[in-house]
Amino acid sequence: MWGKLKARSSILSFLLMSVSLVAAAPRCYDTGNFTTNSTYAKNRDLMLASLPSNASASGGFFTNNVGLNSDQVYALAMCRGDHTPDACYRCVNSSTYELMANCPNQKEASAWTGDYCLVHYADHSFFGTLELEPTVRLYNTGNITSNLTEFGTVWTSLMDRVARNASNGSSGLKYATGEADFEVFVRIYALMQCTPDLSMWDCDSCLRLSAGSYERCCHGKGGGVVQKPNCYFRWDLYPFYVSNASTTASLSPPPPPASAPPQLVVSQTRKGEGSDEQKTSLWVPLGASLSAALGLALFSACGVFIWRRRNSQGVDH
Ligand SMILES: *[C@@H]1O[C@H](CO)[C@@H](O)[C@H](O)[C@H]1NC(C)=O
Ligand SMILES: *[C@@H]1O[C@H](CO)[C@@H](O)[C@H](O)[C@H]1NC(C)=O
Ligand SMILES: *[C@@H]1O[C@H](CO)[C@@H](O)[C@H](O)[C@H]1NC(C)=O
Ligand SMILES: *[C@@H]1O[C@H](CO)[C@@H](O)[C@H](O)[C@H]1NC(C)=O
Ligand SMILES: *[C@@H]1O[C@H](CO)[C@@H](O)[C@H](O)[C@H]1NC(C)=O
Ligand SMILES: *[C@@H]1O[C@H](CO)[C@@H](O)[C@H](O)[C@H]1NC(C)=O
Ligand SMILES: *[C@@H]1O[C@H](CO)[C@@H](O)[C@H](O)[C@H]1NC(C)=O
Ligand SMILES: *[C@@H]1O[C@H](CO)[C@@H](O)[C@H](O)[C@H]1NC(C)=O
Ligand SMILES: *[C@@H]1O[C@H](CO)[C@@H](O)[C@H](O)[C@H]1NC(C)=O
Repeated sequence: MWGKLKARSSILSFLLMSVSLVAAAPRCYDTGNFTTNSTYAKNRDLMLASLPSNASASGGFFTNNVGLNSDQVYALAMCRGDHTPDACYRCVNSSTYELMANCPNQKEASAWTGDYCLVHYADHSFFGTLELEPTVRLYNTGNITSNLTEFGTVWTSLMDRVARNASNGSSGLKYATGEADFEVFVRIYALMQCTPDLSMWDCDSCLRLSAGSYERCCHGKGGGVVQKPNCYFRWDLYPFYVSNASTTASLSPPPPPASAPPQLVVSQTRKGEGSDEQKTSLWVPLGASLSAALGLALFSACGVFIWRRRNSQGVDH
């Protein structure tokens, strides 16, 4: 009950965080360029144009390749496990436009659009191959004021269960969410997802590396995100995903006045920068590189989220 109350008071910070999540720019690989009007260029554009409908029609995960020999284009699109087909379509569509705008002639590129969908294309097959870099990291600058030892125990145990459940998914979906109560007022929410072309083993290690990376950097902070080319991890103190359970939410009274929303800080490392995240990270304050177009796309996703919460009736647990 109190967890839910707190949760609803956090929609503002949910929006702030969602908007800031779009700060992650697409990555254009430096593995080769194609020329305008080449066959590869046409194949890439055809491929990208087909992704939104195919991804949303295939449960949020789609891989395909078109073309022959050196003109072959491979692509992967994935939406977050709690997507609606419509939001998935919009997100993948935004993502493909973003890729075309930012990587006009790169043979390989990928982008996480907000925290909602992933698009990756290349001139070679990368399906089933675990890639750990580049990594995008964000954390909530709010501090947890409770006993961190006790918090850490609950947190770690939840992350362990969610990582196990996510990696134990199918070849169509490797996704799990989980919640754990810490003290009366605090509920921990976690979401993990891999591209389901990964093996269970690779998915598990991708997620555990992500959670471990967050913990080393930001233990004691009130939320975080780690995005890798093959997996996604986010945890927070409010329900930022649509929970697929009959207990989604009960309508709560208006939230108490919230304290100042937490400021978000973005950190990004690039491929080849080594594993010492603290040393090599580039820390970018919130809002430094917001993309208005993507903010809009994300906003529609948020709209769905709020709408669903407003309209869901259920029994609290
Ligand atoms: C590809 O083109 C970009 C500029 O668009 C350039 O910076 C990069 O060096 C080129 N890469 C290769 C491998 O030619
Ligand atoms: C690509 O094709 C378009 C239309 O056929 C033409 O206008 C344009 O000049 C071409 N660009 C290059 C770089 O060849
Ligand atoms: C992908 O979508 C296109 C149309 O957008 C369709 O023609 C094609 O059959 C789809 N491919 C698959 C594998 O579903
Ligand atoms: C796809 O995204 C582009 C750029 O954001 C937008 O102009 C276009 O209307 C979108 N298409 C659909 C069908 O939503
Ligand atoms: C969190 O704690 C750090 C140092 O422990 C401090 O610098 C920072 O201002 C705190 N953040 C908030 C939002 O209180
Ligand atoms: C935090 O909790 C642990 C385990 O319950 C306890 O040993 C420790 O003394 C507590 N620390 C503080 C600062 O209260
Ligand atoms: C994986 O999921 C199946 C059901 O989908 C379950 O029977 C099995 O115990 C799970 N394995 C692990 C390690 O959680
Ligand atoms: C993991 O999956 C099992 C079986 O499907 C479920 O009972 C358990 O609640 C799940 N754990 C989490 C953290 O979601
Ligand atoms: C929950 O999962 C079931 C089965 O996977 C699905 O049919 C249903 O649409 C999902 N509900 C939500 C709200 O995602």
